[in-house]
Amino acid sequence: MIKTSFKNSNIEKEIKDFNLARVKEVHDMIENKTGEGSDFLGWVNWPVDFDKNELSDMKKVAEELRSKINILLVVGIGGSYLGARAADEMIRGLYPNDKVELIYIGNTISSTYTKQVLNYVKDKEFGIVNVSKSGTTTEPGIAFRVFEKLLIDLKGKEIARERIVAVTDKEKGALKQLATAEGYETFTIPDDIGGRFSVFTPVGIFPLLVAGVDVDAIFSGAKKAMEDTKNIDNEAYKYAVARHILHTERGYKAETLVGYELQMQTFTEWWKQLFGESEGKDGKGLFPTSCVFSTDLHSLGQFIQEGTKNVLFETIIDVKNPTMDLNVPKNTEDLDGLNYLTSKTFHEINKVALEGVVDAHANTGEVPNIVLEFDKMDGEMFGYAAYWFMKSCAMSGYLLEINPFNQPGVEVYKTNMFKLLKKPGF
Ligand code: PA5
Repeated sequence: MIKTSFKNSNIEKEIKDFNLARVKEVHDMIENKTGEGSDFLGWVNWPVDFDKNELSDMKKVAEELRSKINILLVVGIGGSYLGARAADEMIRGLYPNDKVELIYIGNTISSTYTKQVLNYVKDKEFGIVNVSKSGTTTEPGIAFRVFEKLLIDLKGKEIARERIVAVTDKEKGALKQLATAEGYETFTIPDDIGGRFSVFTPVGIFPLLVAGVDVDAIFSGAKKAMEDTKNIDNEAYKYAVARHILHTERGYKAETLVGYELQMQTFTEWWKQLFGESEGKDGKGLFPTSCVFSTDLHSLGQFIQEGTKNVLFETIIDVKNPTMDLNVPKNTEDLDGLNYLTSKTFHEINKVALEGVVDAHANTGEVPNIVLEFDKMDGEMFGYAAYWFMKSCAMSGYLLEINPFNQPGVEVYKTNMFKLLKKPGF
């Protein structure tokens, strides 16, 4: 379901000649859980191992909640919200025709944003899902306090209790304690799955169920990707090898993931977290960036075409079948001179843009381009693609000889912030 093309990357031969024994070694480390950080490999077989009873409980709770609300506030930061948002936007689009809207809070401490969301929801029917594995992260913690209080003030404790769900560790952390004390429905984040690998757990699945998304299709796509990557000769590993060669042999420092669909923008944000937090350590790793074309063709496109060379390469997401399409309408006067496009749909024009840009950037601009073809943008494709990137990230991280499953660097800012805020114990 993802076809790779390296013909514009200028490293086809190196990919073919890459040390397969090393790929096999890393593959075995992932599958047999023998590498560094292997206690966080619960996601590898999750598409078949996930708790089916928990899924059916989530379905019931989500349906009940859906019948009562028009807005679900998803509280979380990093891996605790990006996957749900990436899936929601990719699958439902940016202006979905559905009764429930998802709004994300706790990913910022911006007072203006938080206050604006507060003003926006205060006269609407809303519920809250609070997602935090540690249960102690400051940003979602303070946002939850604000919106929990608002809901209780507006509706009273009983109704608030029916509309608040926690997704957290099975026993540890302040959120678990709070949810137990208040009697909030709780779903569990498995111990052996870290935030950026958690979209198929209740972290991603519960909010998506409330949004009315077909999560069975997501699991089916993820399972297919899991099966397709059980063998070392797979496209996800080829992509990992290509980025490894471009980084370590050709000296590229950054990769930009390019989408041609605005509804894929948060998917690229999710991808940035996945690769950035997994690989950026020990002074190593490609800096992951992202673009959405055409809009960024009119900004970063200039840099990519003619700016500093040998720094950045592109990975393009080429979506074959759009969710919707439309024609350029005919106009008898043709004052804008666009009648020559009326035999084409927007998607056809978008595809021509992609072809022209790949040629311009790769051949004239000498920027390596990897192209990943996605069939479409539905639940199955999301599940497939998310799992596919996780697997290539594990391969890519271990090829770099780092632990892809920790994030020690994230703690540095937290400790500074706690000291400055005079948190007890810091
Ligand atoms: O990938 C990760 O592990 C992080 O991005 C976490 O998801 C993020 O820091 C949020 O942590 P928590 O879920 O504990 O609130």
